[in-house]
Amino acid sequence: MLAYDPMDRIPRCAFVIFGVTGDLAARKLLPALYALHRSGRIHEEAVIVGYARSDLDDDALRERLGAALREHVDDFDARSWTDLEARIHFVRGEYDGPDGYERLAAKLDELGPGDHIYYTSTPPETYESIVHGLASAGLPRGEGGFRRLVIEKPFGHDLASARSLNATLLDHFDESQVFRIDHYLAKETAQNLAVLRFGNAFFEPVWSSRYIDHVQITMAEQIGIEGRGDFYESSGVVRDVFQNHLLQLLALVAMEPPASFSDANAVRDEKVKVLRALSCLSPENAVLAQYVGSEGVLGYQQEEGVARDSRTPTYAAAAFELRTWRWAGVPFYVRSGKRLEAKVSEIVLVFKTPPHDPFDGVKPLAGDRLVLRLVPDEGISLRFNAKIPGQAMDVGRVSLDFAYRGHFERPVPDAYETLLFDILAGDATLFMRADEVEAQWSAVAPLLELGDAPPATYPAGSLGPAEANALLERVGRRWHRPGSD
Ligand code: BG6
Repeated sequence: MLAYDPMDRIPRCAFVIFGVTGDLAARKLLPALYALHRSGRIHEEAVIVGYARSDLDDDALRERLGAALREHVDDFDARSWTDLEARIHFVRGEYDGPDGYERLAAKLDELGPGDHIYYTSTPPETYESIVHGLASAGLPRGEGGFRRLVIEKPFGHDLASARSLNATLLDHFDESQVFRIDHYLAKETAQNLAVLRFGNAFFEPVWSSRYIDHVQITMAEQIGIEGRGDFYESSGVVRDVFQNHLLQLLALVAMEPPASFSDANAVRDEKVKVLRALSCLSPENAVLAQYVGSEGVLGYQQEEGVARDSRTPTYAAAAFELRTWRWAGVPFYVRSGKRLEAKVSEIVLVFKTPPHDPFDGVKPLAGDRLVLRLVPDEGISLRFNAKIPGQAMDVGRVSLDFAYRGHFERPVPDAYETLLFDILAGDATLFMRADEVEAQWSAVAPLLELGDAPPATYPAGSLGPAEANALLERVGRRWHRPGSD
């Protein structure tokens, strides 16, 4: 999120992908590198080094990645792929033990670029081995170039494991070399929160408990667990998206203005203050639920890799509170689930109703709502009360809408394109610092402790469990439904 054009800082680097034969590399990393290459944002002498346990060679890897790219990008262009493909190399190796890393170091020497990026696109249990392996080959530090380590989510399984992973990373790398991924931070609406709040004089004065009744953060998904039964069984919704994506969005809504958005640490200092002041409000009222089969869609317990008596929650709704001057008394309601009616990710600020109704209460005045939409159709809507034409002083709801699509000429980039560009440019603003990750684990710990109780249920394809509605109705509120409030 640099305030200047960082093109002049794009390095002639080696981009090493551990787990290059996996799904993330095929679906996200390669398409993002390809998009950067096509728009001239990768140095023409940069190289990509794929590392995996499979028995491949350069040609076999190129062929495999070419096929994946054709499948995952809409505007495949054979000429630019030929150019990028020639710069892809393969190193075979295990994740533990030094041999593969020695071969990697030799390959990197042979290829030349002194700047290295190491990306862990592998299962989380390999992260520590990869760091030890890199260290055994002397790769974390190098003369004549930077060394950056990119760690995918999940970052740990709980507070203790996240601390231990941070300790291992920081034994060998400096915090300034580590880029912990949370792709939600690279969504345009998430970044735009900063501009909306701190680039306008209009919103910030009402952005507090004085005018805001409560905040809702929703990440609803239509998809299920997409064949990742084993992973999801050990994760569940709280670890998968609450601890990271949803709390990062919450931090962006609640943070104080940093001195500069070009200073990654200034931004992260403000976010970490929020995360440290955050706690779960009445965890006993939080809702954990699991989808059951409906209309031909399998229930969670029938998915491959899932225990038939699994208690892993695929849905959660919980209230958080912030012990700060600005936010005391304003609940932040957060919810997310798999196999819901539609894919919707949004942040809704619900404003208080006016202190006095001068229209004789013909119809109760609803609180204004500012809706920041991440999915579908990134954009912002402000819903407020207006007079309905006619002789009576009748009040109805209207909406001011801004949509990214159609407004700017440029397309909205995929989050991974933005993240990889920032890693190349050395800008860590959109990445989580060690202390943020740990504060996030502390904040969700009470929800993880609820884990053993049997979850509530909801039918696949529904709006979620009735218990989630009760969470808000109990205090006279209700969840936002697009277009209805
Ligand atoms: C990932 C989660 O981090 O985010 C997935 O592991 C989830 O379970 C995905 O489906 C959602 O990302 P997006 O960008 O499609 O909203």
